Amino acid sequence: MKHFVSMKNLSEHEILQLIKLSDEISNTGIPPFSNQLFAANLFFEPSTRTKMSFVVAERKLGMEVLDFNSDVSSVKKGESIYDTAKTFESIGASLLVVRHPEDNLVQRLAEHINIPIVNAGDGTGEHPTQSLLDLVTIYQEYRKFKGLKVAIVGDIKHSRVARSNAYALTTLGAEVYLSSMPEWQDNNLPFPYIGIDEAVEQCDVVMLLRIQHERHQNHTIMSADQYLENYGLTKDRENRMKSDAIILHPAPVNRGVEIDDSLVECGRSRIFKQMTNGVSARMAVMYQLLEKGGITHANNFNKRSAVISR
Ligand code: CP
Repeated sequence: MKHFVSMKNLSEHEILQLIKLSDEISNTGIPPFSNQLFAANLFFEPSTRTKMSFVVAERKLGMEVLDFNSDVSSVKKGESIYDTAKTFESIGASLLVVRHPEDNLVQRLAEHINIPIVNAGDGTGEHPTQSLLDLVTIYQEYRKFKGLKVAIVGDIKHSRVARSNAYALTTLGAEVYLSSMPEWQDNNLPFPYIGIDEAVEQCDVVMLLRIQHERHQNHTIMSADQYLENYGLTKDRENRMKSDAIILHPAPVNRGVEIDDSLVECGRSRIFKQMTNGVSARMAVMYQLLEKGGITHANNFNKRSAVISR
């Protein structure tokens, strides 16, 4: 694995390895790299969770963080994303984390860059580290994927999270169902659609999605109350969930729209647990890219130092 840009082409073994490494890091931590490594976070779209949990993950791994603000960078002079990435590669960055609004752009960019790239969300393409932290959260609950029924509910058409999770969960042997209002269905995705009532009554995991207003051409299809009543997780629907079923949401949450405000922190919600798992999941991805890619390892560095000093 040279880059981490998509869940679609990863094997069951590769995904499970990352889930278990992430789970292990969240329990016991991991020794930081002992040599100087730079991580550059190139965010061309707003982010709170993803960006900040990458910063925490990078610092916990002992990396130096090259923060980048596209608004005060040479992007403002017309520099392309490719030339921006090549610049960071040239000045010695060891790894790039990239978020961009264009569909699948990070996946295409990675084909031309020689240092590892992590996709932090590219348009409606993929959001693989979000998927990994979601998978870790499910794994911590059930310790298995085969036989689990997972409903991905909401604005499927504009969601990169839905795509990454549907691919990965299928690879892991879970049954994936989609649930959405007709306007936001994506019929290119090869997964069955079910109604919200069926989803909450039959599934072990109910994964709600944010309404992606920024990607919509037509605004305000219905009021927030109407949306919640027809397509969202109301208190009545939560009461009808299986006894041990859990609620996920990648956040930010539109409280009172996708989910009743009072359910965001209810007993079966794992929404803030997902955010906690985001740090260890991102540490696992970067550790594996850098270590398995032969770029560094604390032990290798110590061995090299010993040879040089002789
Ligand atoms: N879940 C997620 O990607 O959140 P941010 O947009 O805040 O990074």
